[in-house]
Amino acid sequence: MRRLLCALGLSVFLPAAAVQAQDTMPVPSNYREWVFLTSSMDLNYSSTATPSHHMLDNIFVNPEAHKAFLQTGTWPDKTILIKENRMAESAGTLSKAGQFQAGMMNLEIHIKDERVAGKWAFFVSPDGRADGKLMPQSASCYSCHQDHGASDTTFLQFYPTLFGIAKDKGTLSASYLKETGPK
Ligand code: HEC
Repeated sequence: MRRLLCALGLSVFLPAAAVQAQDTMPVPSNYREWVFLTSSMDLNYSSTATPSHHMLDNIFVNPEAHKAFLQTGTWPDKTILIKENRMAESAGTLSKAGQFQAGMMNLEIHIKDERVAGKWAFFVSPDGRADGKLMPQSASCYSCHQDHGASDTTFLQFYPTLFGIAKDKGTLSASYLKETGPK
């Protein structure tokens, strides 16, 4: 418990209920009405991985955070980004090629919380309905997003309507600029 408290950067004086609330996060019931950022197929940073099936994802952000981002190029406190991971299937007899989205594989949540170490926390819901479970700081979610996300640990380079805004406002991260070299 102490380690968890430290990882969350929370005061040990918080009541037990408040600490529990940080450990899990309900999937926002209306996230499908939020702002849609992108859909990607089989994005993977590992060159050795051979996926056993194709995957498509959908990314949503809460409208208030999106509005703030358009003005500032940065995410405000309490931004919630959702990544819905779905099986990709082929339409069989209907079409000769192409894939469409089918059942949910899992759902990932990335939330900005100024109180926690690194200011962002990741949660995973195993089926898109059950509460998301907090990922520990040692999980690869944190390092990959920190090292490769174009701005503030988010993968703006894959969100075509927002990337230009971050570029114009000068909010791309130093690690991203270093990784991609001068443009
Ligand atoms: C090896 C790199 C890598 C790791 C590890 C990783 N991600 Fe991501 N993540 C990405 C990429 C690339 C995207 C960009 C968009 C896409 O897939 O469409 C992304 C996007 C996201 C988004 C959408 C919002 C954002 O931050 O850009 C969420 C939510 C997310 N990931 C959650 C997670 C969680 C939870 C974990 C750990 C269980 C995780 N990720 C681990 C590479 C990674």
